Amino acid sequence: MENDIQIVITGASGFVAKNLRRYLSGKNIKLISISRNDFKSFKNEVKIVSRNYDEKSILPIIQNSDALIHLVGIGKQSIQTDYNMINVEFTKHIVNLSKKAKIKKFVYASGLGVSGNTSLGYFISKYNAEQLIINSGINYTIFRPSYIVGKDDLFTKYLNKQIKKGIIEIPGSGSYSIQPIHINDVVKIFFLSVIQTNFKNKIIDLVGPDMITFEQYVKLFSKGTKTKIKKINLENAYHTAITNSKSNFGVDDLNILIGNFKGNHDKLRKITKFPFQSVIELLKSGRFS
Ligand SMILES: NC(=O)c1ccc[n+]([C@@H]2O[C@H](COP(=O)([O-])OP(=O)(O)OC[C@H]3O[C@@H](n4cnc5c(N)ncnc54)[C@H](OP(=O)(O)O)[C@@H]3O)[C@@H](O)[C@H]2O)c1
Repeated sequence: MENDIQIVITGASGFVAKNLRRYLSGKNIKLISISRNDFKSFKNEVKIVSRNYDEKSILPIIQNSDALIHLVGIGKQSIQTDYNMINVEFTKHIVNLSKKAKIKKFVYASGLGVSGNTSLGYFISKYNAEQLIINSGINYTIFRPSYIVGKDDLFTKYLNKQIKKGIIEIPGSGSYSIQPIHINDVVKIFFLSVIQTNFKNKIIDLVGPDMITFEQYVKLFSKGTKTKIKKINLENAYHTAITNSKSNFGVDDLNILIGNFKGNHDKLRKITKFPFQSVIELLKSGRFS
Protein backbone atom coordinates (compact mmCIF):
# COMPACT_ATOMS: atom_id res chain seq x y z
CA MET A 1 0.00 0.00 0.00
CA GLU A 2 1.42 3.32 -1.10
CA ASN A 3 0.22 5.23 1.94
CA ASP A 4 2.08 2.90 4.28
CA ILE A 5 5.29 4.27 2.84
CA GLN A 6 7.42 6.55 5.00
CA ILE A 7 9.84 8.94 3.29
CA VAL A 8 12.46 11.22 4.85
CA ILE A 9 13.31 14.45 3.02
CA THR A 10 16.34 16.60 3.78
CA GLY A 11 16.63 20.30 2.87
CA ALA A 12 12.86 20.54 3.33
CA SER A 13 12.55 24.27 2.59
CA GLY A 14 14.31 24.12 -0.77
CA PHE A 15 12.55 24.50 -4.12
CA VAL A 16 12.50 20.81 -5.11
CA ALA A 17 11.81 19.62 -1.55
CA LYS A 18 8.83 21.93 -1.03
CA ASN A 19 7.17 20.78 -4.26
CA LEU A 20 7.97 17.14 -3.52
CA ARG A 21 6.58 17.33 0.03
CA ARG A 22 3.35 18.89 -1.26
CA TYR A 23 2.99 16.13 -3.88
CA LEU A 24 3.74 13.26 -1.50
CA SER A 25 1.52 14.67 1.21
CA GLY A 26 -1.30 14.80 -1.36
CA LYS A 27 -0.74 11.07 -1.92
CA ASN A 28 -1.01 10.43 1.84
CA ILE A 29 2.61 9.31 2.09
CA LYS A 30 4.04 9.57 5.60
CA LEU A 31 6.70 12.26 5.57
CA ILE A 32 9.56 13.14 7.88
CA SER A 33 11.02 16.41 6.68
CA ILE A 34 14.19 18.01 8.00
CA SER A 35 15.30 21.60 7.67
CA ARG A 36 17.66 24.00 9.42
CA ASN A 37 14.84 26.45 10.06
CA ASP A 38 11.22 26.23 11.09
CA PHE A 39 8.75 25.61 8.27
CA LYS A 40 5.04 24.96 7.76
CA SER A 41 4.28 21.26 7.63
CA PHE A 42 1.86 19.48 5.31
CA LYS A 43 -0.67 16.78 6.16
CA ASN A 44 0.96 13.50 7.32
CA GLU A 45 4.26 15.24 7.91
CA VAL A 46 6.57 15.05 10.91
CA LYS A 47 8.77 18.11 11.08
CA ILE A 48 12.36 18.11 12.35
CA VAL A 49 14.19 21.40 12.71
CA SER A 50 17.90 20.85 13.17
CA ARG A 51 20.85 23.00 12.20
CA ASN A 52 23.39 20.16 12.03
CA TYR A 53 21.12 17.18 11.55
CA ASP A 54 22.54 15.72 14.76
CA GLU A 55 22.19 12.00 15.20
CA LYS A 56 20.52 12.19 18.61
CA SER A 57 17.50 14.15 17.44
CA ILE A 58 17.14 12.51 14.03
CA LEU A 59 18.03 8.82 14.24
CA PRO A 60 15.19 7.64 16.51
CA ILE A 61 12.58 9.35 14.30
CA ILE A 62 13.78 8.16 10.88
CA GLN A 63 14.44 4.50 11.84
CA ASN A 64 13.37 1.96 9.21
CA SER A 65 11.92 4.52 6.79
CA ASP A 66 11.33 3.27 3.27
CA ALA A 67 13.41 6.00 1.66
CA LEU A 68 15.45 9.12 2.25
CA ILE A 69 15.51 11.76 -0.48
CA HIS A 70 18.56 13.95 0.03
CA LEU A 71 17.95 17.43 -1.35
CA VAL A 72 20.54 19.43 0.56
CA GLY A 73 23.04 20.99 -1.81
CA ILE A 74 24.71 24.25 -2.77
CA GLY A 75 25.76 25.64 -6.17
CA LYS A 76 27.65 28.65 -4.91
CA GLN A 77 30.45 28.76 -2.35
CA SER A 78 31.31 31.21 0.41
CA ILE A 79 33.79 31.29 3.27
CA GLN A 80 31.12 29.80 5.55
CA THR A 81 29.98 27.00 3.25
CA ASP A 82 31.99 25.37 0.52
CA TYR A 83 31.23 22.47 -1.80
CA ASN A 84 33.25 19.94 0.13
CA MET A 85 31.55 20.84 3.40
CA ILE A 86 27.96 20.67 2.13
CA ASN A 87 27.86 18.56 -1.02
CA VAL A 88 30.38 15.96 0.19
CA GLU A 89 30.78 15.91 3.99
CA PHE A 90 27.14 16.67 4.73
CA THR A 91 26.10 13.91 2.32
CA LYS A 92 28.52 11.55 4.11
CA HIS A 93 26.77 12.38 7.40
CA ILE A 94 23.33 11.71 5.88
CA VAL A 95 24.51 8.43 4.29
CA ASN A 96 25.88 7.30 7.67
CA LEU A 97 22.64 8.23 9.43
CA SER A 98 20.69 6.34 6.74
CA LYS A 99 22.80 3.22 7.26
CA LYS A 100 22.37 3.35 11.03
CA ALA A 101 18.62 3.94 10.63
CA LYS A 102 18.34 1.01 8.19
CA ILE A 103 16.74 3.20 5.52
CA LYS A 104 15.85 1.04 2.54
CA LYS A 105 16.40 3.48 -0.32
CA PHE A 106 18.57 6.59 -0.89
CA VAL A 107 17.62 9.10 -3.59
CA TYR A 108 19.95 11.94 -4.49
CA ALA A 109 19.89 15.00 -6.77
CA SER A 110 23.34 15.33 -8.30
CA GLY A 111 23.80 17.46 -11.45
CA LEU A 112 23.80 17.11 -15.23
CA GLY A 113 27.43 17.15 -16.37
CA VAL A 114 28.81 15.25 -13.38
CA SER A 115 31.27 12.59 -14.49
CA GLY A 116 34.43 10.81 -13.45
CA ASN A 117 36.58 13.06 -15.63
CA THR A 118 35.19 16.44 -14.73
CA SER A 119 37.59 19.21 -13.68
CA LEU A 120 34.97 21.53 -12.19
CA GLY A 121 34.91 21.90 -8.39
CA TYR A 122 31.11 21.85 -8.19
CA PHE A 123 30.85 18.66 -10.27
CA ILE A 124 33.75 17.04 -8.38
CA SER A 125 31.84 17.56 -5.12
CA LYS A 126 28.67 16.07 -6.61
CA TYR A 127 30.71 13.17 -8.06
CA ASN A 128 32.26 12.48 -4.66
CA ALA A 129 28.81 12.57 -3.07
CA GLU A 130 27.58 10.07 -5.68
CA GLN A 131 30.49 7.75 -4.87
CA LEU A 132 29.69 7.86 -1.15
CA ILE A 133 26.12 6.84 -1.91
CA ILE A 134 27.09 4.10 -4.37
CA ASN A 135 29.62 2.65 -1.93
CA SER A 136 27.18 2.75 1.01
CA GLY A 137 25.52 -0.49 -0.02
CA ILE A 138 22.05 1.09 0.28
CA ASN A 139 19.75 0.68 -2.72
CA TYR A 140 20.12 4.06 -4.47
CA THR A 141 18.90 6.17 -7.34
CA ILE A 142 21.03 9.14 -8.34
CA PHE A 143 19.46 11.75 -10.58
CA ARG A 144 21.50 14.21 -12.61
CA PRO A 145 19.14 17.13 -13.27
CA SER A 146 19.35 19.86 -15.88
CA TYR A 147 17.25 22.95 -15.10
CA ILE A 148 14.23 22.01 -12.99
CA VAL A 149 11.63 24.68 -13.65
CA GLY A 150 8.26 25.60 -12.20
CA LYS A 151 6.85 28.81 -10.91
CA ASP A 152 9.11 29.18 -7.91
CA ASP A 153 12.56 28.00 -9.02
CA LEU A 154 15.48 30.43 -8.93
CA PHE A 155 15.91 30.65 -12.70
CA THR A 156 12.21 31.41 -13.31
CA LYS A 157 12.21 33.95 -10.49
CA TYR A 158 15.29 35.57 -12.04
CA LEU A 159 13.62 35.80 -15.47
CA ASN A 160 10.41 37.26 -13.99
CA LYS A 161 12.43 39.83 -12.07
CA GLN A 162 14.30 40.85 -15.21
CA ILE A 163 11.04 41.12 -17.19
CA LYS A 164 9.77 43.59 -14.58
CA LYS A 165 12.94 45.63 -15.16
CA GLY A 166 12.40 45.40 -18.93
CA ILE A 167 15.71 43.77 -19.79
CA ILE A 168 17.08 40.22 -19.65
CA GLU A 169 20.80 39.76 -19.87
CA ILE A 170 22.23 36.69 -21.58
CA PRO A 171 25.85 35.80 -20.85
CA GLY A 172 27.83 35.36 -24.10
CA SER A 173 26.14 34.13 -27.27
CA GLY A 174 23.26 32.30 -25.59
CA SER A 175 23.68 29.49 -28.13
CA TYR A 176 24.45 26.86 -25.46
CA SER A 177 21.54 24.54 -24.68
CA ILE A 178 19.47 23.53 -21.69
CA GLN A 179 17.04 20.61 -21.26
CA PRO A 180 14.49 21.98 -18.82
CA ILE A 181 12.33 19.54 -16.92
CA HIS A 182 9.13 20.55 -15.18
CA ILE A 183 8.98 20.25 -11.40
CA ASN A 184 5.63 18.39 -11.64
CA ASP A 185 7.38 15.62 -13.59
CA VAL A 186 10.36 15.67 -11.24
CA VAL A 187 8.26 15.03 -8.13
CA LYS A 188 6.47 12.13 -9.84
CA ILE A 189 9.82 10.62 -10.90
CA PHE A 190 11.26 10.91 -7.40
CA PHE A 191 8.27 9.02 -6.05
CA LEU A 192 8.50 6.34 -8.77
CA SER A 193 12.16 5.84 -7.91
CA VAL A 194 11.07 4.93 -4.37
CA ILE A 195 8.26 2.53 -5.28
CA GLN A 196 9.56 0.89 -8.49
CA THR A 197 12.40 -1.62 -8.53
CA ASN A 198 13.60 -0.67 -12.04
CA PHE A 199 15.26 2.45 -10.58
CA LYS A 200 17.44 0.34 -8.28
CA ASN A 201 21.13 1.34 -8.20
CA LYS A 202 20.91 3.57 -11.26
CA ILE A 203 22.31 6.95 -12.23
CA ILE A 204 19.79 8.71 -14.45
CA ASP A 205 19.85 12.08 -16.22
CA LEU A 206 16.85 14.12 -15.10
CA VAL A 207 16.18 16.02 -18.30
CA GLY A 208 13.06 17.07 -20.15
CA PRO A 209 12.03 16.16 -23.70
CA ASP A 210 13.22 19.42 -25.29
CA MET A 211 16.70 20.70 -25.93
CA ILE A 212 16.65 24.46 -26.45
CA THR A 213 19.29 27.17 -26.62
CA PHE A 214 19.40 29.56 -23.70
CA GLU A 215 18.59 32.47 -26.01
CA GLN A 216 15.54 30.71 -27.48
CA TYR A 217 14.34 29.84 -23.99
CA VAL A 218 14.64 33.41 -22.77
CA LYS A 219 12.87 34.71 -25.90
CA LEU A 220 10.00 32.26 -25.42
CA PHE A 221 9.77 33.03 -21.73
CA SER A 222 9.48 36.77 -22.31
CA LYS A 223 7.22 36.47 -25.37
CA GLY A 224 4.40 39.01 -25.30
CA THR A 225 6.24 41.35 -22.94
CA LYS A 226 8.26 44.36 -23.99
CA THR A 227 11.46 42.92 -22.55
CA LYS A 228 14.73 43.69 -24.29
CA ILE A 229 17.23 40.86 -24.55
CA LYS A 230 20.80 41.97 -24.16
CA LYS A 231 23.82 39.75 -24.71
CA ILE A 232 26.58 40.58 -22.29
CA ASN A 233 30.21 39.84 -22.96
CA LEU A 234 31.19 36.57 -21.30
CA GLU A 235 34.38 38.05 -19.86
CA ASN A 236 32.30 40.75 -18.15
CA ALA A 237 29.80 38.15 -16.89
CA TYR A 238 32.62 36.13 -15.31
CA HIS A 239 34.21 39.27 -13.90
CA THR A 240 30.94 40.23 -12.19
CA ALA A 241 30.46 36.64 -10.94
CA ILE A 242 33.98 36.53 -9.49
CA THR A 243 33.89 39.95 -7.83
CA ASN A 244 30.26 40.19 -6.69
CA SER A 245 28.82 37.38 -4.57
CA LYS A 246 25.29 38.68 -5.26
CA SER A 247 25.60 38.59 -9.06
CA ASN A 248 22.70 37.06 -11.02
CA PHE A 249 24.95 34.35 -12.43
CA GLY A 250 27.51 32.72 -10.14
CA VAL A 251 30.78 31.37 -11.53
CA ASP A 252 29.43 27.83 -11.59
CA ASP A 253 26.10 28.91 -13.08
CA LEU A 254 28.16 30.22 -15.99
CA ASN A 255 30.36 27.12 -16.11
CA ILE A 256 27.29 24.89 -16.28
CA LEU A 257 25.67 26.96 -19.02
CA ILE A 258 28.80 27.19 -21.14
CA GLY A 259 29.46 23.47 -20.52
CA ASN A 260 26.44 22.82 -22.76
CA PHE A 261 25.76 19.43 -21.18
CA LYS A 262 23.34 17.06 -22.85
CA GLY A 263 21.34 14.39 -21.03
CA ASN A 264 19.68 11.15 -22.09
CA HIS A 265 15.93 11.80 -22.01
CA ASP A 266 15.12 8.52 -23.79
CA LYS A 267 16.58 6.47 -20.95
CA LEU A 268 14.48 8.42 -18.43
CA ARG A 269 11.34 8.02 -20.56
CA LYS A 270 11.90 4.25 -20.87
CA ILE A 271 12.18 3.84 -17.12
CA THR A 272 9.30 6.12 -16.13
CA LYS A 273 6.93 5.21 -18.97
CA PHE A 274 4.80 8.34 -18.58
CA PRO A 275 4.14 11.33 -20.83
CA PHE A 276 6.40 14.25 -19.99
CA GLN A 277 5.34 17.85 -19.84
CA SER A 278 7.12 19.84 -22.55
CA VAL A 279 8.30 23.05 -20.91
CA ILE A 280 8.54 24.62 -24.37
CA GLU A 281 4.88 23.80 -25.09
CA LEU A 282 3.92 25.28 -21.73
CA LEU A 283 5.80 28.47 -22.51
CA LYS A 284 4.30 28.69 -26.00
CA SER A 285 0.77 28.25 -24.67
CA GLY A 286 1.29 30.77 -21.88
CA ARG A 287 0.39 28.17 -19.23
CA PHE A 288 3.83 28.06 -17.67
CA SER A 289 3.13 29.42 -14.19
N1 LIG B 1 16.85 23.12 -9.13
C1 LIG B 1 17.60 22.68 -10.12
O1 LIG B 1 17.40 23.04 -11.30
C2 LIG B 1 18.71 21.69 -9.85
C3 LIG B 1 19.52 21.29 -10.92
C4 LIG B 1 20.56 20.38 -10.65
C5 LIG B 1 20.75 19.90 -9.38
N2 LIG B 1 19.94 20.31 -8.35
C6 LIG B 1 20.20 19.78 -7.01
O2 LIG B 1 18.98 19.40 -6.40
C7 LIG B 1 19.03 19.66 -4.98
C8 LIG B 1 17.83 20.52 -4.60
O3 LIG B 1 17.85 21.69 -5.41
P1 LIG B 1 16.92 22.95 -5.13
O4 LIG B 1 16.79 23.67 -6.42
O5 LIG B 1 15.72 22.55 -4.38
O6 LIG B 1 17.90 23.79 -4.21
P2 LIG B 1 17.56 24.82 -3.02
O7 LIG B 1 16.22 25.43 -3.22
O8 LIG B 1 18.74 25.72 -2.91
O9 LIG B 1 17.49 23.86 -1.77
C9 LIG B 1 18.61 23.27 -1.20
C10 LIG B 1 18.40 23.13 0.29
O10 LIG B 1 19.60 22.65 0.86
C11 LIG B 1 19.63 23.02 2.21
N3 LIG B 1 20.93 23.64 2.54
C12 LIG B 1 21.58 24.62 1.86
N4 LIG B 1 22.72 24.95 2.51
C13 LIG B 1 22.79 24.15 3.60
C14 LIG B 1 23.69 24.03 4.68
N5 LIG B 1 24.77 24.82 4.76
N6 LIG B 1 23.44 23.11 5.63
C15 LIG B 1 22.34 22.32 5.57
N7 LIG B 1 21.41 22.42 4.59
C16 LIG B 1 21.64 23.31 3.63
C17 LIG B 1 18.54 24.07 2.43
O11 LIG B 1 17.46 23.46 3.12
P3 LIG B 1 16.80 24.13 4.43
O12 LIG B 1 16.72 25.59 4.15
O13 LIG B 1 15.47 23.46 4.50
O14 LIG B 1 17.68 23.81 5.59
C18 LIG B 1 18.13 24.44 1.02
O15 LIG B 1 16.81 24.87 0.97
C19 LIG B 1 20.38 20.34 -4.73
O16 LIG B 1 21.31 19.39 -4.29
C20 LIG B 1 20.78 20.86 -6.10
O17 LIG B 1 22.19 20.90 -6.26
C21 LIG B 1 18.94 21.20 -8.56
